[in-house]
Amino acid sequence: MASGPRPGWSLGSSHVGPHVVPVRAARGHLLVTVAELIAWGEGVGRAVRPPMIIAISGPLGAGKTTLIQAICRGYGVVEPVTSPTFALVHEYSAPRSRVFHMDLYRLAGPADLTLIGWDEIVAAHALIVVEWPERAGDRLPAGHVPIDLEYVEGDDTRRVLLAG
Ligand SMILES: Nc1ncnc2c1ncn2[C@@H]1O[C@H](COP(=O)(O)OP(=O)(O)O)[C@@H](O)[C@H]1O
Ligand SMILES: [Mg+2]
Repeated sequence: MASGPRPGWSLGSSHVGPHVVPVRAARGHLLVTVAELIAWGEGVGRAVRPPMIIAISGPLGAGKTTLIQAICRGYGVVEPVTSPTFALVHEYSAPRSRVFHMDLYRLAGPADLTLIGWDEIVAAHALIVVEWPERAGDRLPAGHVPIDLEYVEGDDTRRVLLAG
């Protein structure tokens, strides 16, 4: 979890920028259906400006790709956004900047990060969305926006959305 100011934008923290999540949810969570998650993600996509790194954690099937598809749509990506599980990284174009969607699930080790051009990508003036960000270890830049999706016990239609 990143700490400290995140210049330009925040997810409910009191530092700077508009609150995408209601203030009271700053260190809490929202319980969301898939439709609510998609609507929230589209709003995030409309609000963000590059450079921006959004790191989305959570177990398989939690909704990371679903959320990223919504963020990309809100950001203006018109191409279909598909899971880059095997390619590790997909690049899209949008009016405000390029978009890099990375899925580090199959990352074998730090050498793979170098292979996919990690350092150049995270330094780019772009929107960067990352699934399984913890696999990047300390090479995940400190200024990223952390989002976490978790299952709700006994309810497969909702997820816990933790942001900030
Ligand atoms: N509240 C919810 N939020 C997100 N996904 C949900 C929710 N309820 C059910 N789902 C389903 O869970 C699946 C999530 O898949 P996906 O986004 O690929 O997950 P991940 O990328 O985390 O592995 C989708 O089939 C989606 O329809
Ligand atoms: Mg996924």
